Amino acid sequence: MKGCGGEIAGLPCCTVIHGDCEDYLEKFAPGCVDLIVTDSPYGMNLKMQRKESRRIHGDDQFPVETIKQLIKLPRLASYFFCRWDNLWDHGDLPKPKSVIVWAKESGGGPGDTHHEHSRAYEVALFYPRLPEHKFICRPNDIISVPRTGNYLHTTQKPVELMRQVLEWYDFKTVLDPYAGSGSTLLAARQLKKHFLGFEIDQSNHAEAVHLIERPLVEEKSALSPDTQPRFFLDQM
Ligand SMILES: C[S@@+](CC[C@H](N)C(=O)[O-])C[C@H]1O[C@@H](n2cnc3c(N)ncnc32)[C@H](O)[C@@H]1O
Repeated sequence: MKGCGGEIAGLPCCTVIHGDCEDYLEKFAPGCVDLIVTDSPYGMNLKMQRKESRRIHGDDQFPVETIKQLIKLPRLASYFFCRWDNLWDHGDLPKPKSVIVWAKESGGGPGDTHHEHSRAYEVALFYPRLPEHKFICRPNDIISVPRTGNYLHTTQKPVELMRQVLEWYDFKTVLDPYAGSGSTLLAARQLKKHFLGFEIDQSNHAEAVHLIERPLVEEKSALSPDTQPRFFLDQM
């Protein structure tokens, strides 16, 4: 995939690398990216009912050791999407400053109908990096965005969700070490920011490249004169 020509930690910027993010971690010095916004495997061994859906690579565990290293890297903050029980199960994970909530609006998916509430939200662990951390203006900790339908990836996050997180910051670069179908990376591209992603699964990687490389069109509606233009895929 052709990037922007720049580099992040000696790697091509504005690309998604097909590989294991853990093999690259030592290249990243603290402060070499502004943000990490990612959605690692949750450790659920998830297998959806849909025939075409595949198991997620590495979903036998929440990657706590890697997350501990990633927390130290960004200049501003990191966000790790997960489930509430990932916090409970991993006592040696540093306590986040807080969690933010993705409220799925339309409710949760299938599951244990007798003993479990339908899961209508997911959380992201929020680790700000002091002293540099600063929001553009104080954001709410709940984002309400509809589910995606998971057509591109078993656990696909809405691009709108990732974009709202990124819009909290004045930043140049974002890293997503668990890119999946590329939601965070596409959100960065829509905002005209620099990004770098890793994805270990070949077909997810191909999906991410395909998504990110599609032409963007400028959103014409609802632009006030002092709003930066936003760019979206012409159709999904
Ligand atoms: C929860 S999914 C991310 C889904 C993504 N947010 C989306 O919207 O499509 C996690 C992804 O991390 C990938 N992955 C797992 N272990 C990895 C590793 N060590 N390095 C890079 N990618 C990895 C999996 O293949 C999977 O696609």
